[in-house]
Amino acid sequence: MATRKLLLLPGDGIGPEAMAEVKKLIEMMNADFNTGFQTEEGLVGGSAYDAHGQAISDADMEKAMAADAVLFGAVGGPKWDGVPYEVRPEAGLLRLRKDMELFANLRPAICYPALAASSSLKPDVVEGLDILIVRELTGGVYFGEPKEIIDLGNGQKRGIDTQVYDTFEIERISGVAFELARTRSNKVCSMEKHNVMKSGVLWKEVVAQTHKAKYSDVELTHMLADAGGMQLVRWPKQFDVIVTDNLFGDMLSDVAAMLTGSLGMLPSASLGAPDPKTGSRKALYEPVHGSAPDIAGKGIANPIAMIASFAMCLRYSFNMVEEADRLEKAIAGVLDDGLRTKDILSDGGTEVSTSQMGDAVVAKYKVLA
Ligand code: NAD
Ligand code: IPM
Ligand code: MN
Repeated sequence: MATRKLLLLPGDGIGPEAMAEVKKLIEMMNADFNTGFQTEEGLVGGSAYDAHGQAISDADMEKAMAADAVLFGAVGGPKWDGVPYEVRPEAGLLRLRKDMELFANLRPAICYPALAASSSLKPDVVEGLDILIVRELTGGVYFGEPKEIIDLGNGQKRGIDTQVYDTFEIERISGVAFELARTRSNKVCSMEKHNVMKSGVLWKEVVAQTHKAKYSDVELTHMLADAGGMQLVRWPKQFDVIVTDNLFGDMLSDVAAMLTGSLGMLPSASLGAPDPKTGSRKALYEPVHGSAPDIAGKGIANPIAMIASFAMCLRYSFNMVEEADRLEKAIAGVLDDGLRTKDILSDGGTEVSTSQMGDAVVAKYKVLA
């Protein structure tokens, strides 16, 4: 039996609540389908800070490096508002992304048929929506130097963040977007702000060059990122794959989440480059949402983003395509059955807790096997 090493990092707030539902799936799959997942747990975010004063320890970082895949819940919350910037909860996630070189963040926004009425947009705008945001994850203003607050000495301070992109970073993320587009509707829209930003000028140029050199069979368009946000809300079905930088990707994916009914629906995969010898790649799977302090501890969080992130893990880290398809069908199935956590209840249906939703997905997966 294959051994598949997973590191679970539940984190803070609703992170552990959503992760508990994935643990149920892993246990069921090991028991009933001999999947051989071996899990280990670590601390990240505020829970790691409380335990040892760091947002992730070196020991847990090593475990992440050694795992076949990492499943990540969420980090952050008001409890840690006052902690030093370097060890704030979010620093744990950023270190994981940077040290594991997870440059490609895939954020699919799919509107499940049963949820077309749950979106804040009209059903015909979102029905059948299936788009993929490919967000650059290890560069840009998140990591550029200098990044500091300096004292100007006249009672004024200056906050500085630096947006930096090198050619190779744009080439490799656009390559991922073009490759994925070939498996879908073969269209890529690149979003930047070349009208204001030098990094945007380079972004557009390098995406166009990469397209011309290797991917001219894919349809490529360019859009200014602010207009892109507007178009996502106006008529999102015009898009197939969107490729964009770290900060724009962060914001545009929260917008895209609401097209699907709730931030609690959107999964993501953060991938490194494939090893040229083995083909395997470092990977971390994380819902797009955060720790949701406003609902944490109430048992009402939607676990689907976390569960769908595990489906992406099955697909991208373990090539378990059938199982990934089945899990996604199980999610669609429980929604078709009318089960709804509070965040997606607006169209009616039966309200269920986080745990009941997880149980229902486990049961549906077994039925579909
Ligand atoms: P958030 O995503 O935590 O919550 C935004 C809103 O969406 C809240 O009203 C919340 O209740 C709702 N929501 C989010 N996930 C949900 C789910 N699964 N089910 C039902 N409702 C859900 O964003 P925020 O409030 O801006 O940030 C809270 C904290 O989370 C901050 O500390 C932030 O830095 C952190 N954060 C972490 C991650 C991550 O760990 N990947 C991502 C985003 C934000
Ligand atoms: C996300 C989050 C993170 C980001 C934070 C928590 C660092 O908002 O994954 O979308 O900004 O990338
Ligand atoms: Mn975000």
